Amino acid sequence: IQDIALEKLAKVCDLNELDQIRVQYLGKKGELTGVLRGMGALSKEERPVIGQVANEVREAIENRIEELKEELKQRVREAQFKAEKIDITMPGKKVASGKKHPLLKSIEELENIFMTMGFDIVDGPEIETVYNNFDALNSPEDHPSRDESDTFYITDNILLRTHTSSVQIRAMENRKPPIRIVSTGRTFRFDAVDDTHSPMFHQLEGLVVDKHVNVANLKHTIDLFIREIFGNQLETRFRPHYFPFTEPSVEVDVACFKCLGKGCESCGGTGWSMELLGCGMVHPKVLRNCGIDPEEYSGFAFGLGLDRIAMVKYGINNIRLLFENDKRFLQQF
Ligand code: PHE
Repeated sequence: IQDIALEKLAKVCDLNELDQIRVQYLGKKGELTGVLRGMGALSKEERPVIGQVANEVREAIENRIEELKEELKQRVREAQFKAEKIDITMPGKKVASGKKHPLLKSIEELENIFMTMGFDIVDGPEIETVYNNFDALNSPEDHPSRDESDTFYITDNILLRTHTSSVQIRAMENRKPPIRIVSTGRTFRFDAVDDTHSPMFHQLEGLVVDKHVNVANLKHTIDLFIREIFGNQLETRFRPHYFPFTEPSVEVDVACFKCLGKGCESCGGTGWSMELLGCGMVHPKVLRNCGIDPEEYSGFAFGLGLDRIAMVKYGINNIRLLFENDKRFLQQF
C-alpha cells in the first residue's frame, strides 16, 4: 500500500488530487483505514506487529501528504505573485485634465478685482423685458439699436438682452444706495459673424450709486481695474461718446497689448486696442425711472466686452475660436 500510495503522490500536481489520494487511503472508507479496522479479527500475536506496520505506513503517507501540501501551496502562491506583479518602471497613463476656458478665466479675474474693490457680483437674466433693456435706460423710441434688424425679439415686450445694462435697472429697483455691483453674462445682437463679431457675446456691467459720486471716481475705477487686469504699463484714453443712459458718456481705449502704444500690425498702427469699454455718469432720468432721487444721489456705470478682453489678454485673433470648443484651442490655456 505504501509503495503504491507514494508512487501516486509523486505524480500529484494540485491540491485537489492530493486530497483525493488522502481520502483514498486515510479517509473513513480508505484502504489503510480498512486495514486498521480489520485488526479486531487478528490474533493477539499478530495484532501488535500488523498494528505497528500499519501505523508506520499511515505516518509515511501522512507526512508525504503534509509535505506535498506545503509545496503545492507555495507553488500556488508563487504563481499568484507572478501574475500580480506590477512593473513600477512602466510609464503611467496620462490623465486628461480639463482647462478653464479663456473667457471664464477673464471673468473670474475681473470679478476678483471688483470684489476686492467692494463690488457685489450679481446675476441678471438673458431674456429681458423691452422696458429693462431699453425704456428704463432712456433709449429713445426711434433708436436704431431697437430695430428688429439689430435685436432678437421674442415678443413685442420680451427680447434677448442686447447689453448687460438691463442689470443696472434691476439693481437700482431692488437695492438702496449705496449700490456697488458688477454683473457678467451673455448678450445678443443681430450681427453677422466675422473675426471680431458674433451674435452672442459677453459683457461685464458695473454700477455705482451713492452720494457725491463724480467723474473722477469713474475714471479712477476704470484706470485701476484696467491696470489690474492688463498690467501696470498700459495707458488708457477716454473719448467722448453717446449712450442714452449716461451723461456725459465716454468710450475708453486701452494701449495695444502687443506694442504698448507704439503702433503695430495687430492694432492697425494706431497703438490702441479699440472699443473695450463704454461708460459714463448715470443719466438723471435713469435714476428717476428707478425711484432714486438724482438731487440726492449720483452714479457711474460701465460696460465692457469680455470677449474682446479675453482676446487681447490671450492674443486670440478670431472670436469664433471662443465658441467653437475645439480641443486643440482650449488645451492651450
Ligand atoms: N451698454 C453699453 C454697450 O453695450 C455699454 C455701457 C454700459 C455704456 C454702461 C455706458 C454705461 O455698448
